[in-house]
Amino acid sequence: MNRRKQIYEGKAKVLFQGPEPGTIVQYFKDDATAFNNKKKGTISGKGVLNNRISELIMVRLQGIGIPTHFIKRLNMREQLVREVEIVPIEVIIRNVAAGTLSKRLGIEEGKPLPRSIVEFCLKNDELGDPVVSEEHITAFGWATHQELDEIVNMSLRINDFLCGMFVSIGIRLVDFKLEFGRWYDGEEMRIVLADEISPDSCRLWDIQTDEKLDKDRFRRDLGKVEEAYQEVARRLGILPESGPADHQGTKAIQ
Ligand code: CDP
Repeated sequence: MNRRKQIYEGKAKVLFQGPEPGTIVQYFKDDATAFNNKKKGTISGKGVLNNRISELIMVRLQGIGIPTHFIKRLNMREQLVREVEIVPIEVIIRNVAAGTLSKRLGIEEGKPLPRSIVEFCLKNDELGDPVVSEEHITAFGWATHQELDEIVNMSLRINDFLCGMFVSIGIRLVDFKLEFGRWYDGEEMRIVLADEISPDSCRLWDIQTDEKLDKDRFRRDLGKVEEAYQEVARRLGILPESGPADHQGTKAIQ
């Protein structure tokens, strides 16, 4: 790690300069934050699991033709990705009412939505990532109409695919957050999926019991936080069936 030049330190990841121009190394930390940084903690082994879970999901999405920044996983906590210019918008896709949607609109948590809903938030911690409309995004030049069309189309395809993938392992994909970037490939610019997809950025509920298997266990002090991340990894086939005696995942994940 010391050999590399650090570019940026975020809440859950550190970015380092990659070995070749146009590449970046994403290092996954165990740090967890919630409520715009007001709650801080660590979830032991989370970085290792999220690195592996996000790899699996990115590779599967590439398999259905979604362009992503992911190149390859390097080791337990690091993956090599393409350097992109991040579109400063968080895309939230919701299938079931929860979190801020329930709070804002007074819709009971757990109520299935009439159809999948796409929301946009401005990536700005100081302002608490406010919800913005397509009008704001295009008027202020955060993305063009064409880019936004592409982002929404890709997000809905990703949602369809991930809903099916999670249902097959007994998990309901309640909602999740995506980030996109502009990848400059010579003269050409392409919108690609960036960041990560993991239990940090998704709400995942057990289909049978509605048990939460995601960061809400940390946000809401529900306990068994590490176990929830491990359970998702286990169901995805990343951890052995018997479950991890060793949640750092050294044996299972390498
Ligand atoms: O999570 P919270 O209640 O603050 O906000 P939300 O708008 O209900 O979040 C919807 C989904 O996006 C959840 O799965 C969150 O985990 C995810 N999200 C995220 O990963 N990062 C954010 N900055 C905001 C939401």
